[in-house]
Amino acid sequence: MTQKLAVFNMKGGVAKSTTAYNLAVGLVKFKKQRVLVIDIDPQGNASAALGIPIWQLEFQLKDVLQHKVPLAQVLVTTASGVDVIPSNILLAEEEIPISGRPGRELLLKKAIAPILDKYNFVLIDCPPNVGVFAINALMASDGVIIPVDMSYLGLLGVQGIEHALTLVRDQLDHPIAIAGVLATRYDRRNNLSKEVLDALTEHFGSKMFKTVIPETVKIREAPSHGQSIFEYDPNGVGASSYRELVNEVYRWQ
Ligand SMILES: Nc1ncnc2c1ncn2[C@@H]1O[C@H](COP(=O)(O)OP(=O)(O)OP(=O)(O)O)[C@@H](O)[C@H]1O
Ligand SMILES: [Mg+2]
Repeated sequence: MTQKLAVFNMKGGVAKSTTAYNLAVGLVKFKKQRVLVIDIDPQGNASAALGIPIWQLEFQLKDVLQHKVPLAQVLVTTASGVDVIPSNILLAEEEIPISGRPGRELLLKKAIAPILDKYNFVLIDCPPNVGVFAINALMASDGVIIPVDMSYLGLLGVQGIEHALTLVRDQLDHPIAIAGVLATRYDRRNNLSKEVLDALTEHFGSKMFKTVIPETVKIREAPSHGQSIFEYDPNGVGASSYRELVNEVYRWQ
């Protein structure tokens, strides 16, 4: 069965895109999985980090949502073997028109249905809000990966995330699960990191991934080379932590 996971948090800069693209590459590289990344964020960060030239896209997710082109024409297969439905800022122009369409929450789910069988994993990189794109991502997913950065505001945002998931479950009748909460950007020299991690663990218990992603310069630099952390710094702590996450997500199936 295809596992469909949204990488979701309304807060910006918590490592949603970083997690989506490294996880995708890792699942292909270490687990030989067939992986599709859907970039439903007009920033196009996951697409760009995977090495896709986002300012030269002939077709993109926007065209899929408008049913303008067949999916096969939009899919890009990257050097790392990940398939991507990319996006750039033009996706933002769709937000208002889509918001007025009937069945607007299910546009993505319906659009990707014909190709799901090809993949073991579909990872959807969400924008930092709870707008129509994020809701489409949640409705197209079985579970969410929730990266939380080790900050006070990151911790404070958890209630809002839970509220959004409750809304999807109760108002839209979609039983989405928490696949795992991921502590990101952990700085062991900083007491706040430990305090936030402790508070998250107390709140989420077994829903926390055991993996903790450290703050490292290499993770930050890797996208500028169009590489995952596994190619850019294969022996560093960033690669080993994301590899642990690959193992955990693989087991979640
Ligand atoms: N573990 C880390 N160590 C150092 N830098 C990191 C780490 N994780 C992410 N970053 C950097 O932090 C910034 C934000 O990360 P990223 O873009 O993945 O977050 P995001 O949640 O997708 O943001 P947005 O909400 O804007 O989509 C990026 O510059 C990224 O390279
Ligand atoms: Mg992002």
